[in-house]
Amino acid sequence: VKIKVTDQKGGVHEIEGTLGWSLMEAVRQANLPMNAECGGCLACATCHVYVDEAFRGAIPEASELEIAMLDMAFDIQDNSRLSCQITLKPELEGLAVTLAPGTD
Ligand code: FES
Repeated sequence: VKIKVTDQKGGVHEIEGTLGWSLMEAVRQANLPMNAECGGCLACATCHVYVDEAFRGAIPEASELEIAMLDMAFDIQDNSRLSCQITLKPELEGLAVTLAPGTD
């Protein structure tokens, strides 16, 4: 799926993500600046992204653990999510996200 990623400095990147992979893996694969320190174990919150409003409904609700981890991230907003918890699926074609501050 195609994903539009805005980085922490405002640069816009069109990347390609593999179905079944996580959004975090797609961002890292594209060499965009994201720490994702724990490698997707839901233990770091350095994969924090803001999800474009249009796609919020297409992504399952955050688990309690994800919400707890997000509490430790900086600059949380209503559309904050941890990208390692977002699995790429066909409905997310054209997904747009912004990398949150402090994740690079
Ligand atoms: S990569 Fe650590 S919480 Fe997502």
